[in-house]
Amino acid sequence: ARAWRGLIQEYRDRLPVTERTPVVTLLEGGTPLVPAVRISQLTGCDVHLKVEGANPTGSFKDRGMTMAISKAAEDGAKAVICASTGNTSASAAAYAVRAGMTCAVLVPQGKIAMGKLAQALVHGARLLQVDGNFDDCLELARKLSIDYPVALVNSVNKYRLQGQKTAAFEIVDALGDAPEVHCLPVGNAGNISAYWMGYKEYAAAATSHGGAPLPAVATRTPRMLGFQASGAAPFVKGEPVLKPQTIATAIRIGNPASWDLAVAARDESGGAIDSVTDRQILAAYRMLASEEGVFVEPASAASVAGLLQACERGVVRAGTKVVCTVTGNGLKDPDWAISGAPAPTTVKVDAQAAASALGLA
Ligand code: F0G
Repeated sequence: ARAWRGLIQEYRDRLPVTERTPVVTLLEGGTPLVPAVRISQLTGCDVHLKVEGANPTGSFKDRGMTMAISKAAEDGAKAVICASTGNTSASAAAYAVRAGMTCAVLVPQGKIAMGKLAQALVHGARLLQVDGNFDDCLELARKLSIDYPVALVNSVNKYRLQGQKTAAFEIVDALGDAPEVHCLPVGNAGNISAYWMGYKEYAAAATSHGGAPLPAVATRTPRMLGFQASGAAPFVKGEPVLKPQTIATAIRIGNPASWDLAVAARDESGGAIDSVTDRQILAAYRMLASEEGVFVEPASAASVAGLLQACERGVVRAGTKVVCTVTGNGLKDPDWAISGAPAPTTVKVDAQAAASALGLA
């Protein structure tokens, strides 16, 4: 056994890097693929959770950011900029520190979770709250990156998806093949596109070992099932949503940048992009925490809410091998955990009182 070296070193031969690329890393990737015992029981499927909240800044964004910031460093960039619903900005801020760059972030005012705001600030990013939504922030960030010497590190940056595709590699490496179905939340639509790229690459690739080609790493590709929040579901509507609304602030996006790539991932894989309500998202969020021991942020639970719905509707049949990506750590947005729970009881330093409050006596 040897230590994980970060995804660029681990998958160097499948990424657009050279010896001249300075590797900016926090040793991201290598995240757990956890069997979901309860969800498997409920659905009759064999379900695994790809726990991306275990990345260094607590979300899958670190996979894309190690690539985007390393390539920006190779190009001599001194400053980066992004629009974000919170996780991209947290990640960009941290990797910019590692690279010695300044980082500017544009976030929708009042619509990002407190933990994510804290991350951008503690890593020293220049943070602007924009009086608009994510889509407005992204338009602004794009304009600034064209007119000023600052590199854009949103997922429209092609290196981001290259980094993010490694999550699919890890899943195939862990399971021995691709799953039959892959579920994930969809916001700006970069991640579903990146996974599809990764799965296709592994199914096409013949690995070479001592010169002799070995068979492809995966024998199949999964059906990609993406899930949006019902108040922010442009793919379901078939057109941009002007005023996206959902409690899952990470995916409160009405005009996804990777529209065409996501549609291609959906159609080429024989999959679908559907929606789930905020109520379904919160139910899955609580179930993941209370029955699987996995605390995720609300947006992440859209993948599991979507799987439960797809099983009920017969879109996914019992016996199917499924991976659900849970994209971000629950600690980023703890408000929903606290608001749904009973207020804790306070007791004196007294064993009897504690025992009776706990229902032990
Ligand atoms: N889940 C979480 C926790 C996210 O932060 C995001 C996107 C998504 C899912 C959706 O992924 O955009 O690739 O379809 N967050 C971006 C951000 C928009 O700014 O942090 P996607």
